[in-house]
Amino acid sequence: MDEKEMIQNAIKAREKSYAPYSKFHVGAYLETASGKFYEGCNIENASYGATNCAERTAFFKAVSEGERNFVRIAIVGGGENSDLEVCPPCGICLQVMREFCNPESFEIILGTEDNPEKFLLKDLLPKGFGPDNLK
Ligand code: THU
Repeated sequence: MDEKEMIQNAIKAREKSYAPYSKFHVGAYLETASGKFYEGCNIENASYGATNCAERTAFFKAVSEGERNFVRIAIVGGGENSDLEVCPPCGICLQVMREFCNPESFEIILGTEDNPEKFLLKDLLPKGFGPDNLK
């Protein structure tokens, strides 16, 4: 699947976003090393801190199904009635990625269908704390 299609699928995942408070809707599309794909959206809560980001929704769905190896994720976000913006993952989501992904190879695709931008996890989270630090 090319990057444009990854973004298109993240846009589809975004349709399920539950964001009545921020009205900022995010979608994610995650590819596993075994060739499966998981959609995620942000899920807000009246108790704001209980909100789950789109990326973590996708990761937790996948991990709960037994997946532990990941190749890439596409992420899109934007306000309810505005154009999509470049939506980089928050620090907590980067930390969750760091748990399961190789920072040297895991790809994070941001941007738009027409202009996808690809980053490595190590670009967005240099010197992250990970499982090896506890060995
Ligand atoms: N959000 C995500 O889903 N992913 C991110 O990485 C950034 C923020 C969501 C959380 C909240 O529902 C809304 O965007 C505004 O912060």
